[in-house]
Amino acid sequence: MSWTPHLTDDGSFTFFSAEFGEAFHSQAGAKAEAFTKFAQVTGLAQRSQCGDLRLLDICYGLGYNTAAALETIWAANPGCRVELYGLELDETVPLAAIAPDLLASWSPEVQTSLEAIALNHRHTTPLLQATLLIGDARQTIQHLAQTGFQADAIFFDPFSPRRCPQLWTVEFFAQVVRCLATHGTLATYSRSAAVRTAMQAAGLQIGTIRLDPSHRPREWSQGTVGVLAEPQPEKLAEKLAEQSLHPLSLMEQEHLNTRAAVPYRDPDLSDPAELIQLRHQHEQQNCGWESTSSWRRRWGIDEGDD
Ligand SMILES: C[S@@+](CC[C@H](N)C(=O)[O-])C[C@H]1O[C@@H](n2cnc3c(N)ncnc32)[C@H](O)[C@@H]1O
Repeated sequence: MSWTPHLTDDGSFTFFSAEFGEAFHSQAGAKAEAFTKFAQVTGLAQRSQCGDLRLLDICYGLGYNTAAALETIWAANPGCRVELYGLELDETVPLAAIAPDLLASWSPEVQTSLEAIALNHRHTTPLLQATLLIGDARQTIQHLAQTGFQADAIFFDPFSPRRCPQLWTVEFFAQVVRCLATHGTLATYSRSAAVRTAMQAAGLQIGTIRLDPSHRPREWSQGTVGVLAEPQPEKLAEKLAEQSLHPLSLMEQEHLNTRAAVPYRDPDLSDPAELIQLRHQHEQQNCGWESTSSWRRRWGIDEGDD
């Protein structure tokens, strides 16, 4: 597979997948997205002060989320040791991403790490133990969970639910949650209601990623964070606050009662995307929940923004 770099608005590059019909990052900035929606939201600078860190990068792609995480951690604590797993289907993507132009904006130690990870799928230094597991993440996550790996931060970055529903199902999130440490945080750019209910069904309590000042009109969130469910619900606000997470607004809570909130399902973690979509549409038609268009009208949300 050959990959052609496309420039995004912050000067960093992304790829476009013909197979999934989608770019790997938002046009607003590939690198900016890796920092704001993943490295910052999971509190890596603060966490790096407290000892070694374990990271899980789901849909490693060009490795930007890993790179932004390592930059953030080593800027805050140059001696912090990191154990990292990346999950990726297509090994040609990380390989194409180590072309000199694409690597140039990262620090020398992060460049070396991205190169070694792409070429060898393993990289061990005194500060970093990285492993890239190539294959369908629905399978590799199960092997990883069996090893007992517990991540302090999980970057959850598949293509969108409409294009890649197989990685947004309740069953896949349930496997991912097995790899999340008690105090860990999962971050994703998606604020889709179906994604949020799947995260909840898999045992996560969720918060929203608030907008930054450059947001589009009528936008409401930059994504979702998940932490392991707090056995005492009245302590959720406290737990979210501890991790600097923001509870859902009333509008976002009501979104989870609409048809858009019917989660994707993949009982054996092996169904093709088309079957998962069909099952989802069928469940939506029969759920009897409020229509998403009436929720949109109530809150002045544009068509399709769910
Ligand atoms: C949105 S891109 C990820 C971007 C990446 N995080 C980055 O910073 O460059 C989605 C990635 O998911 C990978 N992918 C698609 N289906 C997958 C699957 N079933 N298992 C693992 N990875 C998959 C694609 O090859 C692609 O690299």
